[in-house]
Amino acid sequence: MIRAAVLAVTERSWTRKLVTETKPGRLVAERFVAGETLESAVAVTRALNEEGLKVSLDHLGEHVTSVEEAISAKDAYLSCAAAISDAGLDANLSVKLTQLGMGLDDGMAADHVHEIALAAARVGTSVTIDMEEAVYTDTTIGIFENAQKEHGNLGIAIQAYLLRSASDLDRIIPLGGHIRLCKGAYAEPEDIAYQGASEVDRSFDRLSALLMSSPQTKPAIASHDDARLEPVLAAAGSRTAPWEFQMLYGVRRARQRELTAAGHDMRVYVPYGEAWYPYLTRRMAERPANLTFFARALIGK
Ligand code: FDA
Repeated sequence: MIRAAVLAVTERSWTRKLVTETKPGRLVAERFVAGETLESAVAVTRALNEEGLKVSLDHLGEHVTSVEEAISAKDAYLSCAAAISDAGLDANLSVKLTQLGMGLDDGMAADHVHEIALAAARVGTSVTIDMEEAVYTDTTIGIFENAQKEHGNLGIAIQAYLLRSASDLDRIIPLGGHIRLCKGAYAEPEDIAYQGASEVDRSFDRLSALLMSSPQTKPAIASHDDARLEPVLAAAGSRTAPWEFQMLYGVRRARQRELTAAGHDMRVYVPYGEAWYPYLTRRMAERPANLTFFARALIGK
């Protein structure tokens, strides 16, 4: 409910202007976004790597409306892969398919994933496909399946709030690769998604247990919620295959370092680029306290 309300307000053009064109808005963005350029993302990644944290680099953007934009997003990822190699970073790539042309021309988006997967393979890294609104779930899984069969260095995000996710996992676990389990960040209707926090949590725990007991796949447990991490930590004792935690840049920074110090692999999702507004609105919707932070900055307190 709160999520849907926040997302509805942030979609209005005056809200976008207020956030993107004022200093307070940009200050809030700085907490969650590693700057607008690849250079700034490389610097942030290097600093995180020095602290023992792995990174997933996300060149911000989604829902492109032209072929040129989709090609330019793909090219940005090719540059990012090259930068990972040049700077010797411990990082992989996170991509959104609507940024690469899904919705406009699904075949083009698949071709772009193919090119990015090749570039990532050349520098010894992998590509995770983010999961977007539910209208794209089928196409996203289809593109992932084909690319993973061909390249073997892909992963995909699965959202615990979707009723379909358990059967999606049955289908994709045998393909190997990594699977990022998250709660889900969009506003979805009740015929396809759990609405209550406790239902989403129960679903997350069921799916994380399934992933942690599946040696074919590398689970990436993406949550900042300690209650979701506990059963995973308990299951980790009997798991011999690789797995990792993932958290967002700027969220629960101390916990990220604590888990790393305890010997767990932690990958920080680091977004960068100019198109940061939609990403920021989802972070606001997840935690209305972030809105208070913004309001305080706006009135100068
Ligand atoms: P929950 O929202 O219950 O938060 C638990 C605690 O974490 C909060 O009490 C607060 O302390 C802290 N916290 C959480 N969010 C915060 C925020 N924005 N600001 C400050 N503190 C916050 N979603 C999706 O639909 N598709 C995707 O591909 C991805 N990818 C993805 C990658 C990674 C690495 C992560 C961590 C998350 C995603 N998500 C995502 C987002 C995910 O679905 C979810 O919306 C958020 O992670 C918030 O859910 P939590 O599990 O953290 O729990």
